[in-house]
Amino acid sequence: MTPEMVDLARACARDAAVDNVEFRLGEIEHLPLADVSVDVVISNCVINLAADKAAVFREIRRVLKPGGRLAITDTVARAPLPDAVRQNLDLVAGCIGGAITPEEIVGLLKACDFIDIRIEFDPETACKRDGTTGMDFGDLVSAANVTATRHR
Ligand SMILES: C[S@@+](CC[C@H](N)C(=O)[O-])C[C@H]1O[C@@H](n2cnc3c(N)ncnc32)[C@H](O)[C@@H]1O
Repeated sequence: MTPEMVDLARACARDAAVDNVEFRLGEIEHLPLADVSVDVVISNCVINLAADKAAVFREIRRVLKPGGRLAITDTVARAPLPDAVRQNLDLVAGCIGGAITPEEIVGLLKACDFIDIRIEFDPETACKRDGTTGMDFGDLVSAANVTATRHR
């Protein structure tokens, strides 16, 4: 997302003598990749931070080849979050306020022609109490694994 992050990633790869990776500067809503060029998209805890999640899934579909797969882990809400949570910028930056529900994710993926959609919550990762605001979420927000395949 920033030139500094890309510089650091390149330095880490050099130090580890890893020469089969490439780092490109870009945003998840505007992937620096050609249409229909990718076999698998993975992402860990970024999509919740994107304001326009429909644009993210459209972009993932654009770059994937037909039959290409999506495997993401992200914070997901078991029920729609109250406006007070969604509008609290500390909670948005803390990967909670931007979490959407499985039903919303399925709707966004289906709108982009994804099939074989699976969403599995990881109960071990329930957010419980937010470190910045001290707010208690019980098990309302947890990490979940989302997998799907681009149909055509
Ligand atoms: C919770 S961290 C996860 C980082 C990494 N994926 C990992 O698993 O360790 C969220 C990351 O998303 C990045 N990010 C936030 N919004 C983004 C966007 N619109 N496009 C690309 N990256 C974004 C932030 O810079 C940050 O590095």
